Amino acid sequence: KLGVKIAPSILSADFARLGDQVREVEAAGADRIHVDVMDGHFVPNLSMGAVVVRSLRPVTRLPLEVHLMVEEPGRFLDGFVAAGADTLIVHLEVLPDPRSMLEHIRRGLGKRCGLAINPDMPVERLRPYLRDIDVALCMTVFPGFGGQSYIPESTRRIAELRRWIAAEEAECELEVDGGIDAQTIVEAARAGANVFVAGTAIFSDPQGPAAAVQRLAEYAR
Ligand code: DX5
Ligand code: ZN
Repeated sequence: KLGVKIAPSILSADFARLGDQVREVEAAGADRIHVDVMDGHFVPNLSMGAVVVRSLRPVTRLPLEVHLMVEEPGRFLDGFVAAGADTLIVHLEVLPDPRSMLEHIRRGLGKRCGLAINPDMPVERLRPYLRDIDVALCMTVFPGFGGQSYIPESTRRIAELRRWIAAEEAECELEVDGGIDAQTIVEAARAGANVFVAGTAIFSDPQGPAAAVQRLAEYAR
């Protein structure tokens, strides 16, 4: 059975209390911190940059995973690495030569690398790269905003990706991102996902982020 990992997305955190919120999810057992970077071009919104990673680095021992929803990820990699990022996730849609980018992240920068795909892209497109990545990120909403609803067809896509990962004997994680909550996490886990990004379901939980992290981990198992 796959190890379940919870990755709180700080996009939905209270930025005025960001350090405390990150400490809180760490104490509750979160496995990594997911940092959503948006450039207003690849997605119709702006979010945050490497300065946030730099500020968080001394606050937590958790790995910092950067999800680059940007048109030209290559321009920003060095800055995120210098700031303390552990994992760099780039979108397949913007890469003319995915293999050289993955090689650059892993070999050149020595970081974990991930490939993300949007809901309208056939998941087979990831297949040739599954053995060259640490994380396959299946978007379960169209990226750009927190708080959207999980797209139901995602479940079939997760299951298909899980089959490709098995067929390729790849060792990458299968991560899902968008609209993950106590209901959808069960469905995504059954389909074969093992890493779960959640923003709203964690940072807007009435009982607080710590309780939410623990509950999500329980439901995913
Ligand atoms: C989508 C981002 C997600 C998002 C998740 O644009 O990549 O990480 O913040 O947020 P929720 O869990 O609120 O859908
Ligand atoms: Zn994300």
